[in-house]
Amino acid sequence: MKSFSNQTLETIFRRRSIRLFEERPVEEEKIHLILEAANQAPSAHNQQSWKFVVIQGEKKAALAQLVSHQAAGFSKPSKSILRMAGRSIASAPVVIAAMNTGTLIDHGIELFQIDFEVSSDFFRTMEIQSSAAAVENLLLAATSLGLGSVWLGILFLIKREILEFLGESRGEFMAVIPVGYPARESRPPKKRALDYVVKYL
Ligand SMILES: Cc1cc2nc3c(=O)[nH]c(=O)nc-3n(C[C@H](O)[C@H](O)[C@H](O)COP(=O)(O)O)c2cc1C
Repeated sequence: MKSFSNQTLETIFRRRSIRLFEERPVEEEKIHLILEAANQAPSAHNQQSWKFVVIQGEKKAALAQLVSHQAAGFSKPSKSILRMAGRSIASAPVVIAAMNTGTLIDHGIELFQIDFEVSSDFFRTMEIQSSAAAVENLLLAATSLGLGSVWLGILFLIKREILEFLGESRGEFMAVIPVGYPARESRPPKKRALDYVVKYL
């Protein structure tokens, strides 16, 4: 891995998706700090249209069970990925779920004075992009504090059940993120070379 004297770059390059965790609990201050970092993200029209739910203890064990149970209704590979997600949730001492609140969608038309048809697609996209920025902040803050995390997008397949479980049926599913001390070093995945993803005009 490249090494940087700049701590932000060091954290960005060091962050990896971690799917298995030590039993060691995560300190309350660290949970608070990563949530604060998520909350500092940029957001469309500064609407901060995100919400986080922190899940621990028995509730977290019940969530892991729900995911494993729901996995049985899917075929491979979704079934295996959902099962792995359930195992990550079970293994992590704390899990954070992220949702879009719909506030931008609710207020967007009057804020921006544009057509209803254009606006619903626009505002929904803006909410998703804002929450994605918040989730990335959370992942990076976790890494910087020695914690591992993984963005579990596969739970979108059972988003209704997840939102109901969280008591957030009005929200839009964004991510479920197990957080904890990594059980082992993970091998860095291959990233595409820059000339494949960047074009200079
Ligand atoms: C939107 C999104 C959804 C993801 N969903 C899952 C998932 O459901 N399960 C999982 O194990 N990893 C998931 N990941 C993590 C990716 O697999 C991971 O980021 C990718 O393999 C690159 O590895 P890295 O994060 O270590 O750089 C997701 C990542 C993103 C950004």
